[in-house]
This record gives sequence, structure tokens and C-alpha cells, in this order.
Amino acid sequence: MSNQLARGPVRTTHADGLLASVGARGVLCDFYDEGAAEIYQDLVQDGDGTAEAREFATHASPAPGPVLELAAGMGRLTFPFLDLGWEVTALELSTAVLDAFRKRLAEQPPDVQDRCAVVQADMSAFALGKRFGTVVISSGSINELDETARRGLYASVREHLEPGGKFLLSLELSGPADSGPQERQQELTGRSGRRHVMHVKTVPAEEIQDITIYPAEETADPFVVSTHRRRIATAERIAEELVRDGFDVLTRTPFASGGEGRPDMVLVEAVAREITEGAE
Ligand SMILES: C[S@@+](CC[C@H](N)C(=O)[O-])C[C@H]1O[C@@H](n2cnc3c(N)ncnc32)[C@H](O)[C@@H]1O
Repeated sequence: MSNQLARGPVRTTHADGLLASVGARGVLCDFYDEGAAEIYQDLVQDGDGTAEAREFATHASPAPGPVLELAAGMGRLTFPFLDLGWEVTALELSTAVLDAFRKRLAEQPPDVQDRCAVVQADMSAFALGKRFGTVVISSGSINELDETARRGLYASVREHLEPGGKFLLSLELSGPADSGPQERQQELTGRSGRRHVMHVKTVPAEEIQDITIYPAEETADPFVVSTHRRRIATAERIAEELVRDGFDVLTRTPFASGGEGRPDMVLVEAVAREITEGAE
């Protein structure tokens, strides 16, 4: 697998400093790994993806048939999709995240549960043995992948689209200003009341954002430091890659729900380019 979860946690400079100072109490893991499951569940709110799901629905067929959602996470978009009556296959790699997703799904009415299949797979290299009329991915999810892994994603999506099927992506219009590395830190209180510190280092030139999360309580034992690296590829960059890798980009539509705090988002609609017989 070419993804970060399989490679293990990224060693951020910030994490290295913290681990050196806490000695044997220190534990390093990726934010989406088992070791950080408690922290993940404490911090990640289910989030209301209803407005964003509606943006996807505007571009899907009225009755889209089975939909494949890549890197579904806790189901921020999946559950609103299910509310629309869609049949959804939710693909996700992290075991800890999948456990949380399944717990949430089990609380849904039986007819909703029946319309949702859950698959553990790497979105940059998957083979589900079936095709879908629509494949969707959110910006937070595509930003999990570096450029090489994104090539794998596009190839896998092509293999899973029905003829004429749509690949729908929500994407950020602009990355952070190219003004050199920036660092910020904030304290977060989890559902349990526990306090965590989140440190974010953005390196615009490398399109990288390194996140380090650790206990605000300096004496915590174990002192779990969870890290994660996300990419910050813009809509323009992704659209260029899609064209390079055999898609036609049909539309790029600013979110109508821009007023709801997402003024910088677009919905991109792509279809796999037909290969003309005899073409190179
Ligand atoms: C920022 S969350 C976004 C979740 C959801 N799509 C949303 O928009 O709320 C990214 C998710 O991608 C998952 N992920 C990371 N790398 C992955 C991969 N290679 N294949 C599948 N899922 C992956 C993570 O475990 C995490 O749940």
C-alpha cells in the first residue's frame, strides 16, 4: 500500500521534540491508527456534511444507482447521502475509523443499514470487482494522498466507473499563500472534557501540512503524540491531473452553500475519457 497509514506515523519535528522531553512515557502513532482511536473519537465531531452532500447530489443523476464514496471517514457525507435515499458503498482504510463508522451505522434504521456497504481498502489501489454510476471524494480525503498515490486513485476510479459514470470531487480553490512555512497551535477540548494541543505546520512550497496532536496535560502517562501529514493540492492542480490521467472535466461549480462557511470550495464533475480505437 502506498499510503501513509501503511507506512506508519510521520516524524514531525514538533513530535520529535515532545517525545524527547517525555522519555519513556512517549508513544507515537498516526492520528487515524488504532493507537490514537481514543483521541480521534474524542476530537472528531461527526460534523454536518448535509450542505456539502447536497452539492454532490446536484451533479449526480436523480437516481444515481450504487454510489462509491472514497475515504468515507466517520460518514460526515455518507449519512446525508443515505438520507437522500442513495445506495452507498463506503470505502475507508483505517480500522479505527471503520469501527467508529460501523458503530454509527448500527444506530440507523434497518432500511438505511441495508443501503450501505462498508469496505476496508486503500483508495489509491483498490479492486472491488464492480462498477458504479457515481464515485465521490471530498477534499479532506483527496488531500490524504501525495501525487503518486493520487495517480493510483485516478486509475482505480477509472476501473470502477460504469461507461458514462461520473467522478465527483469537492475541492478547495486555493492552497495557503506561498509565504514560507507557517506554524500555529491551539488547544482543543474533546467530548470527554480532556484537553489536547494541536500544532499545525504548513509548508506551501511542498504542498504539505503536518499535524501533531498531544495532551495539554504535561504529566499524561502514556503521553500519546499522534501525527498526520495532509496534502494541500488546489482544485486547479487536481483538475490538471484528472485531464492528464484520462478524464474530461465537465464542470467546476462553486459551492452554492458558500454562505455556509465554504466560500472557497468547488464541486468538480469528471468523466472517464473514451479511448478511441486505434488511438495511441
Ligand atoms: C479528513 S478525513 C475525511 C473523511 C470524509 N470523507 C469527510 O469528508 O468527512 C480523511 C479520511 O481518509 C482516510 N484515509 C486516509 N488514507 C486513505 C487511503 N489511502 N484509503 C482510504 N482511506 C484513507 C482516513 O482514515 C480518514 O478517515
